[in-house]
Amino acid sequence: MKLGKLLVAGILTVSIASAQDVMQKSMAIMEQGMTQIQQGFLNNNITLIRNGSKLVDEGNAMFSDKKVIAEYLPKEKKHMANVAENAAKRISLDVNVLNLNLDDKAYVNASNAYSDMLNACSRCHSIVRNW
Ligand code: HEC
Repeated sequence: MKLGKLLVAGILTVSIASAQDVMQKSMAIMEQGMTQIQQGFLNNNITLIRNGSKLVDEGNAMFSDKKVIAEYLPKEKKHMANVAENAAKRISLDVNVLNLNLDDKAYVNASNAYSDMLNACSRCHSIVRNW
């Protein structure tokens, strides 16, 4: 292989690897956040719910740009980037709804917002994973 080609291949590998990091980091943070929210609801620990929702928000922000999301969609699903992006937007809205309901001590509504978040995770995963 010519040096130029090697260089291009190397750069591609590096950029793909670092893009992968963004997704894995984002997902790991959101997973941790969702676990905390669930524990918070089950144990009636509002602080845990608040902390968890911050983590979900943080992780979601890292993976909400349509261009970034599209990189992770299988070739035949690229046209669904909008639907995937909407799942990320829905998570961001749900975080707000959840916190507003916590402010109002409307815990059932807050837990519904949590359920909706979980559905939004599955919505995007169903595209990526051909569920
Ligand atoms: C916009 C799309 C999208 C949304 C929304 C989304 N994910 Fe993901 N998720 C992905 C992609 C892409 C992968 C990697 C492919 C795979 O695992 O099938 C992934 C993988 C994961 C993984 C496995 C990570 C790994 O390193 O293999 C976890 C855990 C995860 N997501 C958690 C979540 C949680 C929790 C939420 C909701 C709060 C969520 N995801 C919402 C796209 C999304």
